[in-house]
Amino acid sequence: MKDIAHKLPNNFLQKLHKLYPSRYEEIIDTFLQKKITTFRINYLKTDLVTLREKLSRKRIRFKELDYPTGAFLCYSPLRQLQNTDIYQDGLIYVQNVSSMIPVLILSPANNEKILDLCAAPGAKTTQIVSLAPQAQVTAIEKARVRFYKLLTNIKVQGAGNLVKVYLLDGIWVRKKFPEYFDKILVDAPCSTEGRFYINNPRTYKYWKDKKVKEMVHKQKKLLAAAFFALKEGGELIYSTCTFSPEENEGVIDWFLNKFKDKLQILPVEIPLDNISPAFLRWQDKRYSKDLKGVCRVLPNEFMEGFFIARLRKTL
Ligand SMILES: C[S@@+](CC[C@H](N)C(=O)[O-])C[C@H]1O[C@@H](n2cnc3c(N)ncnc32)[C@H](O)[C@@H]1O
Repeated sequence: MKDIAHKLPNNFLQKLHKLYPSRYEEIIDTFLQKKITTFRINYLKTDLVTLREKLSRKRIRFKELDYPTGAFLCYSPLRQLQNTDIYQDGLIYVQNVSSMIPVLILSPANNEKILDLCAAPGAKTTQIVSLAPQAQVTAIEKARVRFYKLLTNIKVQGAGNLVKVYLLDGIWVRKKFPEYFDKILVDAPCSTEGRFYINNPRTYKYWKDKKVKEMVHKQKKLLAAAFFALKEGGELIYSTCTFSPEENEGVIDWFLNKFKDKLQILPVEIPLDNISPAFLRWQDKRYSKDLKGVCRVLPNEFMEGFFIARLRKTL
C-alpha cells in the first residue's frame, strides 16, 4: 500500500480490507487522487445540443458519459468552468456522478409528490426538478447554514417556484405529512467513507467507529419517519456515500424487520462496471437475503463510493 494511505484512520483501513480484500489497493488508490470534476445538465435551463455548443464555445474540455445521460466529465480546471455563464446561470450543476444515481433510480415523474428528506446543498433536489419540473417537490434540511446553501442552489438552478423548502428536522415528516408522498429520497447523513481524499484531511479526520454508530442511529430515525410519510404503494430510495455495512445493509435490514410485511426491496440495476453486490453478512450479523437487490458503487477516478437501496411500501 502507498505510504501516504496510512494517513487514513487505521481502523477504517482494516475495515475496508476486510470488506474488499481483492480490490483494497484499487480502492485506496482512488483516495490518493483528486477526482475528475463532473457535472450534469439542468434541463430547466437548457438542452443537450445547446449545452454542448456553449461548452465548446467557452473552450471547456469535456466528455459526455453514456450513463447517466446528461452527465459530463470536465477536463478543464474547475475554476475555468465556474467562471462561465454556463455555471453561474445554473445551466449545469457540478455533482459527482455517483451522487446522480439515486435520483435516476427514484425516477421522478411529473405530478408525483416527492420528498427529498436530507436535501442540502441541493444536488439531488435540483436534479429531481430538472427531470420532472411538474412534480410537487418538497425539500427538507435540518442544518441552518446548509439550508441557506440549498435555497441559493435551488434559485440559481431556476427551481425557486418548483420546490417547497423547509428548515426542519426530518423526523417531523411523520406528523407533518402522514402517508402523503408518492416517492421519498433519504440521502442520509453518513460517515462519508466513499468521499475520502488524502489531501483533504477534513474528509476523514472525524471518522471513528463511534461516528459510524452515531450515523446508524440518525439513519434509522430518518427512515422510520419517512416510512410514515410515504403512501402505500409508494417508493423510497435510501442512499449513502459510505462503505460501512452497518450504515447500509445493516440499516436496511433493520428497516425491513421493523416494518415487516409492509416493505419490499426492489432491485437497483446500474449499467456500470464499478458496482459490487450487497454484503449479506458482516462480522457477527446476517442480513436478509432480500438485500441482494441493493447496489454498491465503488469509487474510481471520477466516482465516489455509494450505496443505493430501493424499497416499496406494500399496499
Ligand atoms: C448526504 S447530505 C445530503 C446531500 C444532498 N442530498 C445533495 O445531494 O446535495 C445529508 C444532509 O442531511 C442533513 N441532515 C442531517 N440530519 C438531518 C435530519 N434529522 N433532518 C433533515 N436533514 C438532516 C445534513 O445536514 C446534510 O445536509
